[in-house]
Amino acid sequence: MNTEFNHIFIPGDLRLPVLLLLHGTGGDERDLVELGQSVSPCSAILSVRGKVLENGMPRFFRRLAEGVFDLEDLKFRTEELSAFIDEARNEYELGNARIVALGYSNGANIAASLLLSKPDALDGAVLLRAMVPFVPQTLPDLTDKKILMLSGLMDPIIPADNSTRLSEMLKDAGATMTFSMKPLGHGLTQADFSGIKNWLELTYKG
Ligand code: MLT
Repeated sequence: MNTEFNHIFIPGDLRLPVLLLLHGTGGDERDLVELGQSVSPCSAILSVRGKVLENGMPRFFRRLAEGVFDLEDLKFRTEELSAFIDEARNEYELGNARIVALGYSNGANIAASLLLSKPDALDGAVLLRAMVPFVPQTLPDLTDKKILMLSGLMDPIIPADNSTRLSEMLKDAGATMTFSMKPLGHGLTQADFSGIKNWLELTYKG
């Protein structure tokens, strides 16, 4: 397993959660930095580029068609990302700082996969336009995880019922879920940005 990832690390106040930024298909590690810095200006940032290329577009795992995932690759890539997070914790001396994923689309899907199969990797997650990455045989224990999911009723890529199913699965696993389904599409809007900022402030204040 090659746990090297192209990434950006920006130091910050480790009493706040470190934001693990995971971009959407065709993005890279620069995409979400401005968003991360605006929703939690003092947080450290670890922003990662997915290693899989689909027609030259970076992703975090392979897919066979839109919304149809290569589950073997997903498993491998999820383990690889989890190992990278452990290494980054040492490399950047993050100690016991909480790590919260902020993922969009394909990045949200691998964050959901981390929660379902490598729950120790994350303390929580903001999942933007996420869907069920895979159905685990047994649910992990997510009782200490806090998760915000923002989904779009008119999203042409992520069916609303699939997003709802993911939120129910995470809730059944014990996570403290905040789930919002608004009349939005796949793209992010100002409403998403303020939703994330408010949730982070409420969840991690003090
Ligand atoms: C995925 O492949 O993870 C989802 O379909 C979202 C996307 O298009 O990236």
